[in-house]
Amino acid sequence: MSKTHRIAVIAGDGIGPEVVREGLRVLDRMAAQEGFRVELSHYPFGAEHYLKTKEIFPDAAYDEIGKHDAILLGAIGDPRIEVGLLEFGIISRLRFGLDLYVNLRPVKLYAEHLCPLKDKGPDDVDFIVVRENTEDAYAGMRGFFKKGTPDEVATQEIIFTRKGVERVVRYAFELARARGRAKKLTLVDKANAVRAMDLWTRVFAEVGAEYPDIAREHNYIDAACMYVVKNPEWFDVVVTSNMFGDIFTDLSAMIQGGMGVAASGNIHPGRVSLFEPIHGSAPKYAGQNVANPIATIGAIQMMLDYLGERRAATRLEDAVARLLRSKRLPSLGTDSGLGTNQIGDLVLEELEQTASKV
Ligand code: IPM
Ligand code: MG
Repeated sequence: MSKTHRIAVIAGDGIGPEVVREGLRVLDRMAAQEGFRVELSHYPFGAEHYLKTKEIFPDAAYDEIGKHDAILLGAIGDPRIEVGLLEFGIISRLRFGLDLYVNLRPVKLYAEHLCPLKDKGPDDVDFIVVRENTEDAYAGMRGFFKKGTPDEVATQEIIFTRKGVERVVRYAFELARARGRAKKLTLVDKANAVRAMDLWTRVFAEVGAEYPDIAREHNYIDAACMYVVKNPEWFDVVVTSNMFGDIFTDLSAMIQGGMGVAASGNIHPGRVSLFEPIHGSAPKYAGQNVANPIATIGAIQMMLDYLGERRAATRLEDAVARLLRSKRLPSLGTDSGLGTNQIGDLVLEELEQTASKV
């Protein structure tokens, strides 16, 4: 009996529905070629749904989504709606509610011509960022005092817990071991200024003592931003806090070819986890068939890997890598001259090439 994977799909806002449509075509083809089944449940949440119904994310749907094997998310965010309302109500709710404590962001350059750095190629840009995903300023412990007056005070707490830091640091050590590349883990923090990050320093040393085979490195976030541009080959696995991880991975995405290619997984090992492109909803490109679905296809590749469909994931990654190297997709932005659906077609063509050999 072939295995069935139950996937909840939230296509979301802006270009989300278009890139998810192409991603699902690829997923469907993978299932047919590799002999597994997918059962999709589509959820309408996002800006349009909110404007129509005033509903952000009802509890019943949240509970139901949590019972799937994985979640695929397109993008959330719309300029017509109060900043942060849907992001917090949908993305953060899933990240915090389902305790998806790892935000995994591979930074891998597939073809030299896609890298904006001089003299850097695929051998130099191949690392993975483990971003803590449930704490920090994102926890939303905030407040305003005397709002709207000249004496206004605004606060938002940066929180780190021993448990939260330890589990993500441990995950990163395990990953550095499993990758088996440079076997190096770099802690990125700002412990010199944000002294609460001393917790990260201590946990990193303590947990690290259990992994004598993994070399420990440390960069302050400002220096890490410099090195990722100057010497990206120094990184293997990076572990960092939520906010720094958010910023560092957008910067890192640019050296792997940009937002058109960067994918991520929001993971709680062994439980339902969520996969999404790193890019946002890009409202000005919505509905024009110009968005690049490669990042969403990358998210599907990560999802397949997570679901245990390793061979499918590897074939999909190889197909995308070949496509990018071939230059048949002239750019990864909205200016490629190819429609979202045509890029989907190209990936399907590439997959066809290796289908008979498996
Ligand atoms: C990301 C996004 C989100 C974040 C936004 C949409 C809240 O930028 O996934 O990186 O900051 O985590
Ligand atoms: Mg971000």
